[in-house]
Amino acid sequence: MNEAEKKDYLERYKKKKQNGEYFWPDTIAKDAVVSLGIFVLLICLAVFVGVPNEPPANPSDASYIPRPEWYFLWAFQLLKYFPGKLEGIAILGLGAAIVVGLFGLPFFDRNPKRHPLNRLVATTVMTLIVVGLVFLTIQAVVSTPPQVEAIDLGADLASRVEAGGTLYQEHCAECHGADGEGAEITSSPGDFTDPLNSEDFLITRSRDTIFQVTNYGQPGLGMQALGLAYGGQLTDQEIRVIVDFIEAWYVSPEEEAAGPDLALIETPSYAQHVQPILDKRCASCHSRRLKGNYSVVDYNAVMTSGDNAPVIIAGDAANSILVQMLHGIKTDAGGQMPPARALRADQIQLIERWIDQGAQNN
Ligand code: HEC
Ligand code: HEC
Repeated sequence: MNEAEKKDYLERYKKKKQNGEYFWPDTIAKDAVVSLGIFVLLICLAVFVGVPNEPPANPSDASYIPRPEWYFLWAFQLLKYFPGKLEGIAILGLGAAIVVGLFGLPFFDRNPKRHPLNRLVATTVMTLIVVGLVFLTIQAVVSTPPQVEAIDLGADLASRVEAGGTLYQEHCAECHGADGEGAEITSSPGDFTDPLNSEDFLITRSRDTIFQVTNYGQPGLGMQALGLAYGGQLTDQEIRVIVDFIEAWYVSPEEEAAGPDLALIETPSYAQHVQPILDKRCASCHSRRLKGNYSVVDYNAVMTSGDNAPVIIAGDAANSILVQMLHGIKTDAGGQMPPARALRADQIQLIERWIDQGAQNN
């Protein structure tokens, strides 16, 4: 600044001061009004627009791509250009450079002019910085794959079970059967998976257990991990709806009690009435697994298998071991069947009637 400039500057300063505004209260009042306006705007945005929550944090979800807020994306992108150890140096170095630069600004930029066009160096540097920030932000946005779309799998149980059923057919049915009844394991022919739809499976496995088993599989037994975190294809959310679907196979005692009264059926049919009960309540222990060497896979097996065969005497329900076991009477063949929870009274009555009428394959 030469003498003339200095004089000119001081004069303008004096003039401005005479008819100018005061910081307090004038400027403060203006600032206060603007701040209040922005504050009200933010509150309105929060109340009327809001921000959707992301799903709760989940340390085992490897599909989640963590991103900083948009206004930090440039820094995030910048760090990508400093791989490995350089990253730490870049963070400290850049931070230090910015702080030192700001501290030094009054010393190395002593240009008294205020119009941007009269401050070429400062204007150019600032323009470069802004362009750089915008460029890095855009780079960060386009170079990051989109978050795995959190597909809407439905909020209510019915639609979750439906979505889970579709996923189950796609990813599980091949090895566990379309209805969870079990299927041959392709990698070891002759071996079958245990039914997932049986009551004793569903009662003894918590939702969490089924979730975990699906997530990281049972590698030793021939089921690879299916969760994304362990190299599979299913997100946590998808596994959760599959579990909803599997759990829906379980019929609680209350629900079952509400079923149609089977005792009213005059001539029970094996295929229509008896086999479904056996499938649901006995197959988990009496199909692939042959407890007591007894199998309920089909009519022939039901009539002829078992260590104490025949367990059904056609026309004589009272003396059939199977019926006695259904009633919980201790026999040479064992105790109550199924061991955990007896059949409903009318189901037992139906099986008795079917046996008394000749135990036919009708
Ligand atoms: C490649 C075949 C295969 C696929 C696909 C598969 N599993 Fe399995 N799964 C197995 C085998 C084998 C076992 C262990 C043996 C058994 O259950 O009899 C098993 C075991 C399980 C068990 C534990 C059973 C128990 O008795 O504790 C659950 C639960 C299970 N699978 C759920 C699923 C779900 C859910 C899916 C689909 C998302 C699925 N599996 C897909 C083969 C498979
Ligand atoms: C949780 C497993 C399990 C379920 C479910 C189950 N059983 Fe059994 N069952 C067994 C076992 C174990 C035995 C061997 C005897 C014993 O230890 O009590 C057996 C034995 C039998 C026997 C005697 C076979 C023989 O000749 O010695 C009959 C009959 C039988 N079960 C019928 C049924 C029927 C019918 C159902 C369904 C309504 C059923 N069980 C459900 C585990 C089960």
